[in-house]
Amino acid sequence: MTQIPSELSAHRFVRACLRQPVDRTPVWFLRQAGRYMQEYMEVRRNHSLLEICKRPELAAEVTITAAEKLDVDAAIIFADLLLPLECMGLAFEFQAGEGPVIHKPLRNAAAIDALVTTRAGELAYVGEAIQRVVAHFKGRLGMIGFCGAPFTLASYMIEGGGSRNYIETKTLMYRQPDAWRKLLDKLVTVLLDFAAQQVAAGADVMQIFDSWAGALAIPDYREFVLPATKTLVREVQTLGVPVIYFGVDTASLLPAMREAGADVLGLDWRTPLDKAWRELDYACAVQGNLDPITLFAEQELIRTRVRQILDQAGGRPGHIFNLGHGIVPGTPVENVQAVVKFVREYVPEVRRG
Ligand code: CP3
Repeated sequence: MTQIPSELSAHRFVRACLRQPVDRTPVWFLRQAGRYMQEYMEVRRNHSLLEICKRPELAAEVTITAAEKLDVDAAIIFADLLLPLECMGLAFEFQAGEGPVIHKPLRNAAAIDALVTTRAGELAYVGEAIQRVVAHFKGRLGMIGFCGAPFTLASYMIEGGGSRNYIETKTLMYRQPDAWRKLLDKLVTVLLDFAAQQVAAGADVMQIFDSWAGALAIPDYREFVLPATKTLVREVQTLGVPVIYFGVDTASLLPAMREAGADVLGLDWRTPLDKAWRELDYACAVQGNLDPITLFAEQELIRTRVRQILDQAGGRPGHIFNLGHGIVPGTPVENVQAVVKFVREYVPEVRRG
């Protein structure tokens, strides 16, 4: 890992991921560059989402603008979870208002056999965008690279888009376990190559999004998902960076997710941070966990909720302040900025009197 001077946000952020003491809690936001922000919408007016992802100068601009406007401690590269599908041979598009649509979803072993794992080099545009952001911030802010987790990406590939019940995904998982394992192994190969490119380009930390893991029962997670996830996490750590493993609706799954071995677990807002962290035996760092919709409240209430989360973290090394999931369109930008201010101004409960 590159050495980062001690007074900088990047240092604070990376240290917190490693559960080392910091001067104050680092803060950044899931989906900090997105449709709630006017500057993003202006770029979006002239370019599609995929065009922004694939043009490093645009992806870097969007990433930098959001991080500077919010004054956060880390920038997450502007890209999308689904980009690796394309280089594996699955075409998709983002349809307005409907989210991603995969044209020929995977439904059988033959389609899984046909997936390509040797073309992750086609994702080089993400690394190029990271290089630009790193050159801009010169180590001032932490640089987060990311990829999807095997389960969440497999679910998009099999369902063909978002899903409520994951019927096709779970059917394949239960009934064709060999094909399922092959799919996850192929994903791990591609994702690891992709992660290595991002780390080589200057990512300080990698976040692995298992956004839909919360749909799984604990025994299914352990049997069908944990082994491949564990391999991915360990191999990414071998690249020399801490890993943040993120999911939603995961309250009861957290101890099993912890076994994947990530340095940091993302927490959603449904479990109090102190309870979740205690149940993890404080064996990893945690990131979270303000309800993103709290950002629609008045600032006094937002301040109270921010304080409550920081009180629950109790100054223990290894807390990164964030939302429990991404910022949604329509969120007032000034409230996101206010959260950063509240985290900075925070005085622990014992000293507030
Ligand atoms: O600052 C950032 O975090 C932006 C970078 C980013 C995007 N997608 C850009 C994007 C990140 C980190 C992602 C990850 C991603 N993509 C996830 C995991 C994060 C999570 O929310 O759990 C998932 C599940 C996807 C797949 C995806 N991409 C969906 C389901 C959608 C449509 C949802 C919607 O809100 O419409 C997208 C589109 C997308 N990716 C947008 C952005 C800013 C919004 C659409 C747009 O700008 O047209």
